[in-house]
Amino acid sequence: MENIFDKFLHGADYNPEQWLDYPEIFQRDIELMKKAHCNVMSVGIFSWAALEPEEGVFNFEWLDKVINTLYENGISTILATPSGARPAWLSQKYPEVLRVSETRVRNFHGFRHNHCYTSPVYREKTKILNSKLAERYANNPAVIMWHISNEFGGECHCDLCQNEFRKWLKEKYKTLDNLNKSWWTTFWSHTFNSWDQIESPSPIGENQVHALNIDWKRFVTDRTIDFMKHEINTVKKYNPNIPATTNFMYYYEGLNYFKFKDYVDVVSYDSYPEWHSEDNIEVAYRVAAYFDIMRSIKGKPFMLMESTPSMTNWQSVSKLKKPGMHKLSSMQAVAHGSNTVQYFQWRKSRGSSEKLHGAVVDHYGKEDNRVFNDVKEVGITLESINKIINTNVKADVAIVYDWENMWALNDSQGPRNIGLNYNDIVMDYYKVLWEQGINVDFVDMECSIDKYKLVIAPLLYMTRNNFQDKIRDFVKNGGNFVMTYFSSIVNDTDLCYLGGFPGELMDVFGIRSEEVDALYEYEKNEVKLYKNNKLYNCTQICDLIHVKEAEVLAEYNEDFYKGRAALTKNSFGKGKAYYICSRMEEDFNKEFFHSLVNELEIDKKLKINLPRGITLSTRENSNEKYFFLQNYLDEEKEVDFEKYTLRDVVTGKYYSGKVKLKPYEVLILEY
Ligand code: GLA
Ligand code: ZN
Repeated sequence: MENIFDKFLHGADYNPEQWLDYPEIFQRDIELMKKAHCNVMSVGIFSWAALEPEEGVFNFEWLDKVINTLYENGISTILATPSGARPAWLSQKYPEVLRVSETRVRNFHGFRHNHCYTSPVYREKTKILNSKLAERYANNPAVIMWHISNEFGGECHCDLCQNEFRKWLKEKYKTLDNLNKSWWTTFWSHTFNSWDQIESPSPIGENQVHALNIDWKRFVTDRTIDFMKHEINTVKKYNPNIPATTNFMYYYEGLNYFKFKDYVDVVSYDSYPEWHSEDNIEVAYRVAAYFDIMRSIKGKPFMLMESTPSMTNWQSVSKLKKPGMHKLSSMQAVAHGSNTVQYFQWRKSRGSSEKLHGAVVDHYGKEDNRVFNDVKEVGITLESINKIINTNVKADVAIVYDWENMWALNDSQGPRNIGLNYNDIVMDYYKVLWEQGINVDFVDMECSIDKYKLVIAPLLYMTRNNFQDKIRDFVKNGGNFVMTYFSSIVNDTDLCYLGGFPGELMDVFGIRSEEVDALYEYEKNEVKLYKNNKLYNCTQICDLIHVKEAEVLAEYNEDFYKGRAALTKNSFGKGKAYYICSRMEEDFNKEFFHSLVNELEIDKKLKINLPRGITLSTRENSNEKYFFLQNYLDEEKEVDFEKYTLRDVVTGKYYSGKVKLKPYEVLILEY
């Protein structure tokens, strides 16, 4: 679906159903929304009990009024399906809708996101309400998008889900014999001789068959998507042109979000970074990476569906954003491809668990405060950069980020069962590109990699979906592929490759990994990089390789493997394959990747030096480029624009030569 956005959206989750007894609050909200330059509200996310107070008894009048009044005041609605939380009558009458935990205990009614994705009753009841919503609102011009449920997550282990899991397995493996072989179940006599012996993993049952564990996680993603599709299909019947999204979560490991790409029209995302918890640079690159993952899922601009205008209430320490940080962090999302800046929440609820969570409107209820003004400033800024809408981020470099690999790795019981954090290791490589202002896409093993000049695969423990062949073809045809230690160890069902590591890629990389050493937290080794003869620290894992055709670029400097290769480069076909043997310190990664990027003439968009703390991200279309220059430091920084004269998109002012960026300042520039 093209052309979803004709302007940047600015708004929030809005819960007017909590305030139906306070009509003056609704009037006030509308006035304040206009003052805050909001043009959209996400409505109805947790409204089931207000919409269907009793089974089969519906009340849409309050919602009619909300949607229509917002619209009359220039504010569109993103309408939610309310399946994220259910009314008490539903759980009471139909306990099967409630989730069963991995220890096979059914939850009580309460909380939210507490439902079975399989339950026919839950599906039927959501279908009834979703149909009524769609019938009533899908052709109302006020409604511009569906917000399907809320933050899908978690898993259900009830009997209905167990049966679905077995069906899913039968479809995948066809025969039990095939399943047993693929799962290597002869280990510890875990062979299954009937399908109904198979159960989802449990801490009080089976959890040592790694292939079962990963298939369960795959199933959970598929089940969740199946439920989401059930909701989307229901609402789209009434108007197929209203796009649908569902909000993904910050660093959530439980669902493979890449698998959602064909079913949501636009990716949307909830981001709650812990600003000011440490050096903001250390926070900022992780946030940037996740925005890039979100954009990469569909290869299109995404939505920042939720962020806090001030603080959360669930982090161990919920800090305020310091002056300037709200705009800086909102524009960071835009810089990485967001077409929206939206908040949780518009107004603080008066009671229950989120009454102290940051909001645009506090219990105070008026606009003369810092947070409100920060929000307003973002609204005004978004209005002034409207020509940037729908431009995208274009990258020559991709990093492989694969949920299934992460699951397999976390489960691997390998050489290091603590501290080998996939996300952290992926970020090692992202960071040194990000701080150079190089745009990066993320791919998983089902994506095509052909269009990139450079692909980096950190800790590619599992190679699946013929990814080994993709790497081979990519390098053969002239691509540059960097892979790290402990890669291509297992196949799709977590069986080790026989004949040596990295699996079928030994010839592509011109090496064979013979052993992998693990280092304690307090240990390190050193690596000598030949090109500058410098020593760099390396930690966690040291891969001991035999070099066949590859050229050695660095060697270990300590331990019994002193002198053995630590970094290699192999020419294969028209391309190059690099193998990094250990977790290198940041300076090494900078040295290696910065020179590789120069050698490969990766498009840097603006060829200026970025001092530490200043970042650059570029959005573009075929004619225009827009540069977001951001200062994450609490101090003024100077940037030399060198040969460029750039125009500020917001103010129209021209910049050249040495330009000072104030603490937390963001400049949005064009040629
Ligand atoms: C999530 C939820 C919201 C709200 C926020 C609080 O993102 O989707 O409903 O609970 O967290 O930060
Ligand atoms: Zn279930």
